Amino acid sequence: MKSNPSDLPAELAGLLAQSRARLGPFGSVHFFSEVTSTNDVAVPLPEGAVVLADRQTAGRGRRGHTWFSPPGSGLYASVVLAPVRSSDPTRATVLLTLAAGVALAEGVDAASGLRVDLKWPNDLYVSRRKLAGILAEASGDRVVLGFGLNTSVASYPPELHERITSIESELGRSVDRYPVFVETLAALSRRYDDLLLGRFDAILDAWRRRAPAAVGARVARTVDGNLVTGMTAGVDDQGALLVRVGDRVERIVSGELEWL
Ligand code: BTN
Repeated sequence: MKSNPSDLPAELAGLLAQSRARLGPFGSVHFFSEVTSTNDVAVPLPEGAVVLADRQTAGRGRRGHTWFSPPGSGLYASVVLAPVRSSDPTRATVLLTLAAGVALAEGVDAASGLRVDLKWPNDLYVSRRKLAGILAEASGDRVVLGFGLNTSVASYPPELHERITSIESELGRSVDRYPVFVETLAALSRRYDDLLLGRFDAILDAWRRRAPAAVGARVARTVDGNLVTGMTAGVDDQGALLVRVGDRVERIVSGELEWL
């Protein structure tokens, strides 16, 4: 089913207009009250386009997971990026999701004051509960970068409450979603500039500062059906996670990790 765009909610339109100068290429927001997945809607759109939906009927996460997307409870958005335009397209592409994680954390912090941790490769956590996730999907020479950010978990099934959190549950007060959204776009604009201009150290430094568990934390992952445990030993300059397993250091470029 093809959804039709809706008019921007007046409050969001006002905030976008006020912040225009800080949004760089991300000033054009296509708003939908309902879509299957914002990542699918964004595919044919040009670099810089932003898709925001109040609800997704088939929101997806990494590794085939579903992203629960009830109305009024989160930000479900996708932006279209072109890392090929960077001075170093290969490195910009591998560091893209780290840069996006930093930007989301900065946006949440700026709008609400909530301090968020990053978990490799690109999840946002507060006290070991997931606040937001990022799904980057290639589309030709562009990347559709989708993010889901929980603002309230009131309507989430109880079994999810142990694993996830929201800005409202962490702050203990109601939070307006649109200022958070606009601050994440402003932060994405700054970090996208870093990627395009080759300022990779700035991205890595910011990521490392917000990811205390990237060093010295016990983690586990499944390799060929076996559980392998180790100790995190930082992130290298290509964004790979280093994990000490026994007397050797493994370089992990993809996959999921569990904290122990
Ligand atoms: C993850 O942590 O597994 C990634 C979750 C990404 C969810 C967002 S919500 C907006 C965009 N549209 C989707 O279908 N997924 C991403």
